[in-house]
Amino acid sequence: MIQLIRGFKDILPGEVELWQQIEKTVCSLLEDFGFKEIRIPIMERTELFARSIGEDTDIVEKEMYTFPDRKGELITLRPEATASVVRSYIQHKLYAKDPVRKFYTIGPMFRRERPQKGRYRQFYQINAEIIGVDSPLADVELIFLLVTLFSRLSVSDVEVHINSLGCPECRPKFKATLTDFLTSSTENLCSDCVIRIYRNPLRVLDCKVPACREAMTDAPSILDYLCPVCSQDFETVKTALEAFKIPFTVDNQLVRGLDYYTRTTFEIQTGSLGAQSAVAGGGRYDGLVKALGGPDIPGTGFAIGVDRLSEITGLNNADYIKAPDIFLAALGEKSQSLAFKWKCALGLEGVKAEMDFGVRSLKSQMKQADRLGAKHVLIIGDNEIKEGAVILRDMTTKAQVSIPIEDIVENIKTKIL
Ligand code: HAM
Repeated sequence: MIQLIRGFKDILPGEVELWQQIEKTVCSLLEDFGFKEIRIPIMERTELFARSIGEDTDIVEKEMYTFPDRKGELITLRPEATASVVRSYIQHKLYAKDPVRKFYTIGPMFRRERPQKGRYRQFYQINAEIIGVDSPLADVELIFLLVTLFSRLSVSDVEVHINSLGCPECRPKFKATLTDFLTSSTENLCSDCVIRIYRNPLRVLDCKVPACREAMTDAPSILDYLCPVCSQDFETVKTALEAFKIPFTVDNQLVRGLDYYTRTTFEIQTGSLGAQSAVAGGGRYDGLVKALGGPDIPGTGFAIGVDRLSEITGLNNADYIKAPDIFLAALGEKSQSLAFKWKCALGLEGVKAEMDFGVRSLKSQMKQADRLGAKHVLIIGDNEIKEGAVILRDMTTKAQVSIPIEDIVENIKTKIL
């Protein structure tokens, strides 16, 4: 038997209903806030991700599914969506009519990480991106949306973490100071972090290895190095979050795993998922549109990890599994062909009807109706047909009524809906 690939998974009926409910809740809120759906490809040229996410990130260095296509061009299964949304925005000159665009997109992402609870090699994200708005209030809007969504989806135990990563004005000074600090504590760092000191020192700040965490307790804070503009920007975010009564933690070691971020970054973290604490993450990427060949237009956005969200939502899966409204139990061949006609007519009217396609005893059909959780059973025998009326049984109360065959679909609808 051929099994699925490690780190990949099937989402089966019985669990997919919860996913549909999550997606419905998220998309409808995003639509209410003016976001428009955009669908982007699952594969892109490798260069797009290398240039946006950054050559020295874990994602680009070791987690991407990259391979040459038949003509030798390097292509990559997307590890995230922001790069593609920005590519599309630039390629179709979506800024020409109105530079301000709000997009959302849902779909699978691929990262070859070590699989564990909450971490998969194919996982699903819902992304929201606001391109063309410089104001930090756009960041606040995104955090506000995340907090609202987690509340609508009955997720408890979440915390908002925020930080500012500065801008090309102020970050280099911090990077230099941090590099000096790290160079003096090399002996306390893991081997990956020793390499990171010269390639991507900020990443050392959020290394999960306990020794590195310990070594970082005295590390300089980027917040002490922000230029006046970044500093003012971050203050505005904090003040607005307070005004909305959204509790948050300022975490000066939150650096995120992608290099395109500037200024405010944020994560929604939960204690319910063990090591994989981030259910959503995002932030500002003011230089990305320009870096990918577009005009100098700012951007900000987030992505929610749907796999993780589905594991911590307080919504009850069973509430979204739809049982048939009615099971048509036909006894005899004539009854069966009539039942089939009615089943199709009911379906077109939005009534979920099921039947057994083999001619079986009433007892076994009742059992099947029970197993499916059907709320009603219509008992159709050749005698009943002769008499022009069939029996409708309410499976909860066990009450039975006789209903005329003429206008059967309407009769059923008025009785059961
Ligand atoms: P990210 O933090 O890399 O950001 O991913 C966002 C979310 O995707 C994470 O918080 C997590 O819930 C989920 N996720 C990431 N990797 C995995 C995995 N291996 N298995 C399961 N879930 C995972 C981004 O991708 C940015 N593009 C977000 C963004 C949008 N920033 C601005 N706009």
